[in-house]
Amino acid sequence: MELNVGLNLDLTGKHIVLGVSGGVAAYKAATLLRRLTGAGATVQVVMTAAATRFVTPVTFQALSGKPVFVDMWDDRIADNMAHIELSRGADAILVAPATADFLAKTAQGQADDLLSTLVLARDCPLLVAPAMNRQMWENPATCRNVALLRRDGVICLGPDAGMQACGEEGCGRMLEPEALLESVINFFAPKHLAGKKLLLTAGPTFEAIDPVRGITNLSSGRMGYAVARAARQAGAEVTLISGPVALPVPQDVTRVSVQSALEMYAEVMRRVKETDIFIAVAAVADYRAECVSPQKLKKAAGGLPEIRFVENPDILAKVAALPNAPFCVGFAAESENLETYAQQKRERKKIPLMVGNLIQEAFGGADNRVILFDDAGSHPLPAAGKSQIARQLIEHIAHLMEKK
Ligand code: C5P
Repeated sequence: MELNVGLNLDLTGKHIVLGVSGGVAAYKAATLLRRLTGAGATVQVVMTAAATRFVTPVTFQALSGKPVFVDMWDDRIADNMAHIELSRGADAILVAPATADFLAKTAQGQADDLLSTLVLARDCPLLVAPAMNRQMWENPATCRNVALLRRDGVICLGPDAGMQACGEEGCGRMLEPEALLESVINFFAPKHLAGKKLLLTAGPTFEAIDPVRGITNLSSGRMGYAVARAARQAGAEVTLISGPVALPVPQDVTRVSVQSALEMYAEVMRRVKETDIFIAVAAVADYRAECVSPQKLKKAAGGLPEIRFVENPDILAKVAALPNAPFCVGFAAESENLETYAQQKRERKKIPLMVGNLIQEAFGGADNRVILFDDAGSHPLPAAGKSQIARQLIEHIAHLMEKK
């Protein structure tokens, strides 16, 4: 069945003032604006005069659907209180790019243009994404200013290292819009799992037969990665044991890459003692070849090759059976009889929570439809994007752990 509700609306209801100061990275602020509104936020753009030399206000106006303000004396705001009115009701001010000059002025509390004045007059959190030449970033004056800002509670996102517009290489690049979006979502997410250590498995496993062939499955890893990201956003310290997938590592998540079920099992067992929550999202192969041929298997002259299979350890069941086991969550991917099979699996593996989904709706796509099974019964969640489902799952886990 086609589900098409995978919109990532993590910032729905949030109002953000996006401050753009004058650096080359201002061009990336246009993409950032799109990402913020795409995630459901409303955005008011305020630019410095220097920023308008890089990108025109018209671009931001078209993308935000709101007038863009630059000048303190703008008479579009009747009482000339733009510096107060534009930030009232905002959930955060995000300045991206934040130049060395902007950071210096903000650290000193200077207010000589609209952006610096409204930052000084704010009653909401301030997030800054520095962007400057590496020497400017490393200059002791900038280091002092950033330290002062951090002490004042300003949240500093980045900068990143890499090739700079000036041709030099080093630290000072603005974080990419996607990374900034993730940081902003992280910032707002309720911290249901603060202080918890969470371990999870994701993706398929690959069970080698010979040096080039093996058995795997169509798991994309997207659900597991979405759960890892949601857990991190909820404040948990997250380690992700991942089978072979082509997905970026979620921000501030430790990823350990593995291939086979046995490797996955070993990496889980190495860490499980220090874990509060274990979520097994991986589609682990049930069987592996008893002997992996060191050489490529040749086509047999007569008859078919014989491969003997042996059973892989059930990682989830083994973790759940440990003394002092962490809070265990499993995923049951079924092609039919979801309710019955998922409940049976929950009982067999002796775990408090099983997430059931139909393979037809879960594998590969951006969306999913799941039912949560726990001691209280079954809780169907509406079809949604995997990131939304992951967030609801994390909330449910936090709720069950609170009751324990
Ligand atoms: O028994 P089945 O494979 O259907 O169970 C699925 C659940 O068990 C998933 O949470 C999966 O990650 C976990 N599992 C595991 N190790 C295995 C097989 C499944 O951790 N060998």
